[in-house]
Amino acid sequence: MAYDVTVIGSGPGGYVAAIRAAQLGLKTAIIEKYDTLGGTCLNVGCIPSKALLDSSEHYHNAAHTFATHGIKLDKLKVDMPQMIKRKDEVVSQTCQGIDFLMKKNKIDVFKGLGSFINKNKIKITAKDGSTQEIETQKVIIATGSKPTPLPGVAIDKKRIITSTEALNLKEVPKTMVIIGAGVIACEMGSVFARLGTKVTMVEFLDSMIPSMDKTMGKELQRALKKLGMEFYFEHKVTSAAAKGNAVAVVAESRKDPAKTVNLTADYCMVAIGRSPYTEGLGLENAGVAKDERGRIQVDGHLQTNVPGIYAIGDVVKGAMLAHKAEEEGVFVAETIAGQKPHINYLLIPNVVYTWPEVAAVGYTEEELKAQNKAYKAGSFPFKALGRARASMDLDGVVKVLADKVTDEILGVHIIGPRAADMIAEAVVAMEYRASAEDIARMSHAHPTFTEAMKEACLAATANRALHI
Ligand code: FAD
Ligand code: NAI
Repeated sequence: MAYDVTVIGSGPGGYVAAIRAAQLGLKTAIIEKYDTLGGTCLNVGCIPSKALLDSSEHYHNAAHTFATHGIKLDKLKVDMPQMIKRKDEVVSQTCQGIDFLMKKNKIDVFKGLGSFINKNKIKITAKDGSTQEIETQKVIIATGSKPTPLPGVAIDKKRIITSTEALNLKEVPKTMVIIGAGVIACEMGSVFARLGTKVTMVEFLDSMIPSMDKTMGKELQRALKKLGMEFYFEHKVTSAAAKGNAVAVVAESRKDPAKTVNLTADYCMVAIGRSPYTEGLGLENAGVAKDERGRIQVDGHLQTNVPGIYAIGDVVKGAMLAHKAEEEGVFVAETIAGQKPHINYLLIPNVVYTWPEVAAVGYTEEELKAQNKAYKAGSFPFKALGRARASMDLDGVVKVLADKVTDEILGVHIIGPRAADMIAEAVVAMEYRASAEDIARMSHAHPTFTEAMKEACLAATANRALHI
């Protein structure tokens, strides 16, 4: 069997690359070692986590805000097996959607571990040990990532878990310690805290979601505290040990290592980042190089050091996001087909699906300061909006950063209701290099949450927000 393009890995990077390659008339194969297509994102990432976030949000509202809305419920109860079953159904339907897309685009799907025999020959080893070989002109490596382990903490997948196991817990834990206060900690922590778990986060740095604009972390911390979460910042976990149905976690203060914190919980989830996944790929057989962090090294065209072999998504440098992987999939397929595509990495939005949601695009205020860039900032709180009062979603703010001289929007940071959807306006505005005044002068439907974006742009342009 001979192909123009073979994609290894069927996550959002891989399957999108395969579809675009097939659309461009290239004979395409895709190899996936798991039973279902869709990768981390569909099976154990974006989709199942959002399904549980939505379910737990409904429960939380039923328990805490329905009465104020004039809706009374008796005997409210969490049915965890049903919640997990619904999540599994969402995952299964979404994965089947990828099967359909592969068939529709006449992409050959191979189930098994893909490994290089040489740069143009790939071996596929199925679960039963049987093997087959295919020949290919080009290869796109899209093998994704896996949770980063923490030295001294043995993940037993029962009591000491990662997000993968957290998505399948059969009970609502009474207590959970989460190592890390990044995006997985905030999202999965929200799921369980809303269902009644006492969640404690232990974070190495001095704030949550530390790579985002500092205002976002501060606001999010306030919102998550309302769910009863506790936080230890600037603390380093030195050990976690499971004993029976409990886990004992020890963390030491980074400021004063003599001070330690001892925590006990039903579960401990490790969420300290993800690492590129290249095990079993046989990169050495094709001579593909990795960088110092174990990522596949690529140039500006996402081509590895071996001509004809490309790599995309979590396994290469850059943000570990599904939509970043997708853009790279399209980019490489089009490059192989002889086109000259482009990705504007600055304008890949970043979203945390807590409630309130956090969404951002462009530079943070800290980055602009570090660049010595002359900028101005405008903010607008959701609580000043009629729409937010109507839905009782008063927490949060839109912050717009614009060039002090030209007024061009340089960054937009939103924490608030529907921030994940609202950020699209900022992406479009920045892609077309709009000024804050451009957005401020456009009509935004009333009453909507998007009015906060217009008002923040008014504030950034000339400190002339109308409703505050
Ligand atoms: P992956 O999706 O990891 O897919 C790689 C695939 O390659 C896997 O199926 C793997 O089995 C397969 N594979 C590996 N090696 C081989 C081999 N040798 N042969 C054959 N197959 C192989 N991102 C967002 O943008 N939004 C979110 O809301 C979001 N939520 C997330 C929630 C969680 C809990 C997690 C863990 C991640 C989340 N992410 C989210 C990140 C997102 O899932 C990843 O950025 C994305 O899946 C990366 O896509 P990818 O195609 O590079 O790799
Ligand atoms: P993360 O990088 O978001 O957060 C990890 C956190 O752990 C950081 O704050 C870091 O300072 C901290 N940390 C690192 N080592 C530590 C230690 N030894 N002790 C205590 N804290 C420590 O990584 P996370 O949350 O694991 O998620 C992995 C990736 O998955 C993210 O980078 C993100 O790209 C992706 N993801 C995206 C989502 C989204 O887009 N909504 C949702 C979930 C995951």
